[in-house]
Amino acid sequence: MLALTRRIGRRLVAEYDTLRLGAVARQVRRESLTYLAPAKLRSIEATLDSIRARAVPGDFLEFGVALGGSAIVIARRLDGARRFIGFDRFARIPPPGPRDPVEAHRRYAEIASGRSRGLGGRTYYGYLDDLQARVVATFARHGLEVDGDRIRLVAGLFEETLPSALGRPVAFAHVDCDWYDPVRTCLEALAPVLSPGGAVVLDDYNDYAGCRAATHDVLDRHDELALVARTPHAIVVRR
Ligand SMILES: C[S@@+](CC[C@H](N)C(=O)[O-])C[C@H]1O[C@@H](n2cnc3c(N)ncnc32)[C@H](O)[C@@H]1O
Repeated sequence: MLALTRRIGRRLVAEYDTLRLGAVARQVRRESLTYLAPAKLRSIEATLDSIRARAVPGDFLEFGVALGGSAIVIARRLDGARRFIGFDRFARIPPPGPRDPVEAHRRYAEIASGRSRGLGGRTYYGYLDDLQARVVATFARHGLEVDGDRIRLVAGLFEETLPSALGRPVAFAHVDCDWYDPVRTCLEALAPVLSPGGAVVLDDYNDYAGCRAATHDVLDRHDELALVARTPHAIVVRR
């Protein structure tokens, strides 16, 4: 009975969060293009609106694009001369490492076995061999041209693509890559280019202990960064 009440409660909260979402976020959820719960999408929308209202300079980035759902929500909020850059391997997620907990290794074993099920009953995105081309087409359907300038997708391992791709100031980054090593790599690379007042959202802070540990390991080394929210995901800002 208690479990049922909790399930109904969670359902009602999700319905309420969905009602507060913008039209683009609602559409990407309807199309099963994102793993993000409505509360997380709403928080991203609010963070971007605040950055725009305060005119924080810099680009919008995402690390972990997958099918492109959250990327579309972010890129559709570009204003002025900002650019969007989405980083992803556009292939199966790399394995977790020694700093990740057993649940992360179990989840990866399921993906590697070929048994992972995709959103909306479709093929899991990590098994698609044309993922990047699909994302480009999905962006186009949502009115976003991946022109390699204002909107770019950078394919490859973050560890390899980041050093040459991060030149300009960053106002917002969505880090959605699950495990300790990539989260740490992204946050360390973002620290020197994040504008004052800019924000980094860490999607998996409450879902994977590796993401949480990486966040705090980087915060310990960077006094200029502050953790300002822990739910529905972590938000780190530059003071
Ligand atoms: C959870 S999915 C992103 C979900 C997406 N943001 C959404 O709206 O549903 C994580 C993505 O990050 C990518 N990824 C994780 N670690 C990576 C790394 N080290 N280099 C490149 N891509 C990586 C995975 O391949 C996967 O596509």
